[in-house]
Amino acid sequence: MRLDSPLSNCPDLLSKDPSTMPYTIAIAGISSALALKVAAELLKQPNVHVRGTSRDISKLPPFLKDSPRVTLVQCGPYDTEALRSLIRGCEVVVCCYYADNKTMLEGQKLLVDLCEEEGVSRYIASDYTSDFTKLDLGDVMVKDPMKHIKAYLDEKPKVNGVHILVGLLMETFWGYFDVWDSKEKKLRYWGTGHEEWDLMTYQTAAEYVAAVALDPEAIGIKKCAFHESFSQNHH
Ligand SMILES: NC(=O)c1ccc[n+]([C@@H]2O[C@H](COP(=O)([O-])OP(=O)(O)OC[C@H]3O[C@@H](n4cnc5c(N)ncnc54)[C@H](OP(=O)(O)O)[C@@H]3O)[C@@H](O)[C@H]2O)c1
Repeated sequence: MRLDSPLSNCPDLLSKDPSTMPYTIAIAGISSALALKVAAELLKQPNVHVRGTSRDISKLPPFLKDSPRVTLVQCGPYDTEALRSLIRGCEVVVCCYYADNKTMLEGQKLLVDLCEEEGVSRYIASDYTSDFTKLDLGDVMVKDPMKHIKAYLDEKPKVNGVHILVGLLMETFWGYFDVWDSKEKKLRYWGTGHEEWDLMTYQTAAEYVAAVALDPEAIGIKKCAFHESFSQNHH
């Protein structure tokens, strides 16, 4: 299984000159495992400022709490005015909520509405998954909010939706389905062993999300997953 750098998979992103202009990115749900890695990637760019929300900012790591380029806002998903202060004046909003379907739907709708009102032109939805557009509503209940949010964004005149498809995140996939036996150092699989697995690590996904967030022209569906046949002889 080959793990390429996101930038080598998206050469168009490499060709962009990193701007020296201040560039502010808001992350709703900055405490999430994915968001922490996204924020770390973003802060490698010296011109980037990050704003982030959590319901409890005291739990956030020092690299966020101590950075002069990070602003943290303690608020929940329906604290409209706190979220407005997060969003106002930023270039792009990245949502990393991972919550119940109501929060994923209503919380994200509020963020989208605030982007529209505050003139923020891009909203990166909390998707980071395989291609949910191929599913019908009800096929996989946890993916339903993604479909609703995409439709909601498609109707908005000003804010552009961005949907990042990274496949399944390896760490959760291996845990959920008992695929990886860390004691025995074995992968278990079903099928012939030649099926393609659409998997990516949180770290690689975060590098893609950061690259997309930094590219002002990146809108719509961004499929960053890659396919590799997994054919090793493990059981
Ligand atoms: N493709 C895959 O296999 C896969 C696997 C896992 C996740 N994902 C996706 O990756 C993204 C982030 O997931 P993650 O694993 O990094 O998340 P995580 O570590 O579980 O963190 C959850 C985040 O959601 C926020 N949150 C939880 N409940 C909330 C609520 N009721 N109201 C507001 N915020 C709430 C938390 O904020 P607080 O700080 O306020 O608690 C936290 O920032 C999501 O879009 C998820 O769908 C994809």
